[in-house]
Amino acid sequence: MLGSLVLIWIFILLFFLFVRVQRPKNFPPGPRPVPIFGNLFELNITNPLKDFKRLAERYGNVYSFYFGARPAVVLTGLKAVKEALVTNGADFSGRPQNLLVSDAAKGKGVILVDYGTTWKEHRRFALMTLRNFGMGKQSMEDRILGETEHLVARLEKSAGGFVNPQTLFHDAASNIIYLVLFGTRYDYEDDNHKIYVRCFTENTKITNGPWGMIYDTLPMLRSLPLPFRKVFKNFQTVEKMVLNMIIKHKTTRVPGEPRNFVDCYLDELDKRDDGSSFNDGQLVRYIIDLHVAGLDTTANTLLTAFLYLITRPDIQERCQQEIDEVLEGKAQACFEDRLNMPYTQAVIHECQRIAITVPTAFHSTSRDTELMGYSIPKGTFVIANLSSVLSEEGQWKFPHEFNPANFLNEQGQFEKPEAFLPFSAGPRMCLGEGLARMELFLILVTLLRRFQFFWPEDAGEPDFTPLYGVTLTPKPYRMGVRLRQPAREM
Ligand code: HEM
Ligand SMILES: *[C@@H]1O[C@H](CO)[C@@H](O)[C@H](O)[C@H]1NC(C)=O
Ligand SMILES: *[C@@H]1O[C@H](CO)[C@@H](O)[C@H](O)[C@H]1NC(C)=O
Repeated sequence: MLGSLVLIWIFILLFFLFVRVQRPKNFPPGPRPVPIFGNLFELNITNPLKDFKRLAERYGNVYSFYFGARPAVVLTGLKAVKEALVTNGADFSGRPQNLLVSDAAKGKGVILVDYGTTWKEHRRFALMTLRNFGMGKQSMEDRILGETEHLVARLEKSAGGFVNPQTLFHDAASNIIYLVLFGTRYDYEDDNHKIYVRCFTENTKITNGPWGMIYDTLPMLRSLPLPFRKVFKNFQTVEKMVLNMIIKHKTTRVPGEPRNFVDCYLDELDKRDDGSSFNDGQLVRYIIDLHVAGLDTTANTLLTAFLYLITRPDIQERCQQEIDEVLEGKAQACFEDRLNMPYTQAVIHECQRIAITVPTAFHSTSRDTELMGYSIPKGTFVIANLSSVLSEEGQWKFPHEFNPANFLNEQGQFEKPEAFLPFSAGPRMCLGEGLARMELFLILVTLLRRFQFFWPEDAGEPDFTPLYGVTLTPKPYRMGVRLRQPAREM
């Protein structure tokens, strides 16, 4: 008995010592993987950023890495990222499958769908529909400004005191995307809204954390009742809520007169035959995808923007001067106004650059391909390090500090460097970019016009190190609020 145990141990040891994982031929270099676990032991699984940085320094701008048995290629810097995602866009625009997030998505929606017809058709549909027209009378701008008024009302209640902006921007961003999808908003205190937010927050936490990593790298543990099961359950909860909303739309819609995104999709369904990639199940996932994609990204960018604005009152004031001048006599800002606000535009872009809200884009190769002299087989996991591009030396005047001059030329005009890739690039690039940029501009301008925001004196030194995750977010902070001008007469 004891003898056979010892034998098994010896066998396992020999296995790890002598069985080599073969890298594909001419594959990018990287650390040597062990069977089953790959390079998992090279990583600090609660925060692998430092380790990845070390590997990039050692192996170069295109290096490989094993997540369990699965090889991955990491791209660092503008040149490698652009060459893959843009120049070879058709080869590098798949999404890795067989991961916790993609399994939970069941191959539906748009974000996690692999390169192919369903993805292409749904992406095209969203891009068309999210443009200003196509969703009834209310413009995108009106929807955003309407929700911003609720945000203003909330801040007015706190004026003269302090707010914890943590939920503030999440609620607003959630409602804006909700207005686009369903034409209604949730009250900030609504129970359904809270369930929604809780499910998403929990899922993000699990998929980003050690349990997500374990699911992704060690498939043999997947059927065990471990915490990653919760992700599937949360999805079911959200799916049920979305399905209810869709059923409601079906009974109240007038075909050909869409009020919102769901109506547009139902119109499209009418036009297509049964075999098409458009169907009810796909719509449910699509709605969830757009909500997920538009929520944390926008909210966390705003959180970072305010963290920098309250710790740099000089920059905040200069924005306010410009905003006052351009908006003088006008009740509200509109998106066009950005063209007359080069400084504010530069500040908003600099906030996006420094926020690195989405630090990495996860792709996969849709066929055997090549990149910078290396061969990369079909189905390889490709990680584009957007973070490395947004702070790349040589691409920015001030790569490592918060400085709006990164986006201003000698004449003080707004100028966007090529390395500004917070939305990624190529065929998979963020499809909500237009909406996101409109939200950031209208919300920031409206709030800065009405309020002055400041860092609480008793709060100590601000900590700018973000919390690690699929989206980065600042550590929770408090923010002082003062009225700048009396609230508009009702
Ligand atoms: C500041 C806010 C935002 C940032 C920084 C951001 C950034 C990104 C990034 C980096 C990607 C991945 C691109 C890639 O894989 O190469 C992405 C994808 C995506 N984003 Fe955004 N995003 C933001 C807001 C939004 C909003 C408001 C929406 C809602 C409509 C949205 C919808 C999507 C969708 C659907 C995808 C998947 C596209 C695809 O797979 O084809 N995003 N976003
Ligand atoms: C892993 O990272 C976390 C968070 O940065 C840190 O607290 C911890 O000490 C690290 N662990 C190891 C083994 O380096
Ligand atoms: C991306 O680049 C940044 C900055 O160089 C680095 O800190 C980070 O670890 C890198 N992440 C990955 C996944 O390679």
